Amino acid sequence: MTHPTPSFHEQFCIEVTPVPLVLTIFGASGDLARLKLFPALCRLFQRQLFHPKSQIFAFARTPNTTENFREYLRVEFKKNCSGDCAKCADLDAFLSRVHYVQGAYDSEEGYVRLRDAITDCEAEHAIGGNRLFYLSVPASVYAPIAQHLAHVGLTEEPPHSEIKRNVIIEKPFGYDGESARRLDAELTSYLKPSQIFRIDHYLGKETVQNLMMLRFANRIYEPLWNHHHIESVQITASETVGIGTRAGYYDDAGCVRDMFQNHLLQMAAFVGMEAPASFEAKTLNAARTAFLDSVTPPDPVSDWVRGQYAGYRVEKGVRPDSNTETFAACVFFSNAPRWKGVPFYLRSGKCMAQRETTITIQFKKMDTTLFAPIKGRDLPENRLQIYVQPSEGMVLSTLAKKPGPKLCIGALNLSYKYSDVYDEPPPEAYERLLLEAMLGDATLFTHADAVNAAWKILDPSLEFWKSNPEKVPPSVYDKGTDGPSASSTLLAQRQHAWIPRILNQGE
Ligand code: BG6
Repeated sequence: MTHPTPSFHEQFCIEVTPVPLVLTIFGASGDLARLKLFPALCRLFQRQLFHPKSQIFAFARTPNTTENFREYLRVEFKKNCSGDCAKCADLDAFLSRVHYVQGAYDSEEGYVRLRDAITDCEAEHAIGGNRLFYLSVPASVYAPIAQHLAHVGLTEEPPHSEIKRNVIIEKPFGYDGESARRLDAELTSYLKPSQIFRIDHYLGKETVQNLMMLRFANRIYEPLWNHHHIESVQITASETVGIGTRAGYYDDAGCVRDMFQNHLLQMAAFVGMEAPASFEAKTLNAARTAFLDSVTPPDPVSDWVRGQYAGYRVEKGVRPDSNTETFAACVFFSNAPRWKGVPFYLRSGKCMAQRETTITIQFKKMDTTLFAPIKGRDLPENRLQIYVQPSEGMVLSTLAKKPGPKLCIGALNLSYKYSDVYDEPPPEAYERLLLEAMLGDATLFTHADAVNAAWKILDPSLEFWKSNPEKVPPSVYDKGTDGPSASSTLLAQRQHAWIPRILNQGE
């Protein structure tokens, strides 16, 4: 079947102009740096979104030289190019911007070396003084690093200037609300709150950002975006992979801390927030946080299903009696007038049947009897599905008459895939977020109050499960399935069901 190709006509565009800066990556020999950060920076360089004067410092504990580190990156890039030469273009020019500094995270010596190298480099390349630090290291060393950076003067922003010296940190932002607040208090004793950029890579996904345009730039959606018309909101983020080599982190964290505290609740906040007064970081964050604040924490027993994939307990590094969930599903409600009585269903899991992140808005059924005699039953409801990944796109299922002499009504899907409309694939989330951070724009980063609001939703359940491990034990589910069957029951109790993707990933 052929579909006419939809087209996109640009109407409004905010230009991005990269500024010269020095970016330092802590934990530069780690997996995140190797697999995501350096490739994202190289792509930005290729797209001319990395200022020609900008330089990158790789800071790690392993003794190494700049030459060897560049060579290591070159090999890694080539490995990941898989024949796609465009991905490796300009590699030499990119690598010439990378410099290696060795140092321990807990001793001042390395930071002094780093400061001297950065200030020399700033002078040599006439870089105005903007600096960005990416802490791709365990959360336990965030505060010591921030302390050392402040101590050697690397993060201090000159007064009365536009110069920005920001620090990016990755989740986990604490283990619960209390530890998140402690971490924040420590960090803010060395940095101004505005200097802390908390990354949630789901906020860098194109389709998540597009939710704002969809909701607030289209007259046809916003009037329907409320409890009068919406029956339920569903968000699924499932993965086919297991925990890999991350047992050390994952067995303590579990799926709820790993995926719900950040990615799933942030996506829910994009769906649920009120229209912000402006497109500024502060206003947008406040709108997302207000939605999270309006959520009634789910009941630890009746509103959750926890699962563990078969074989999890024998994964290397996992405790043999581990009660950690690798799957979770929950239902919650918001007190915001817009969402009165509308259930938000969220689920996520590892070793599931499909890799997909999908947001489904299930509209209420039409309360008309006009077409009832045709089939003698209700018409199906309209649904809007946003495909966050893979196969980014959107489907709106409508009802239409099937052409022909009979009066037949059926579902007609209006859909678009990014790959059909846009020439280039959407940028990787890290590419987008690194660019925003280099521009000093915190719009797509999470603020401390949003982190706290998310913990407030989850803390009661996490605490209950910890003190009552026998009450909500995770049910074992087979790998390659949709998780425990109880997750369907959770919805069935409210006459709902998980809605699969309307279009298959290949369609
Ligand atoms: C990370 C989690 O934040 O997100 C991982 O720690 C998970 O466990 C990953 O696999 C999923 O990200 P993505 O972009 O592949 O959906």
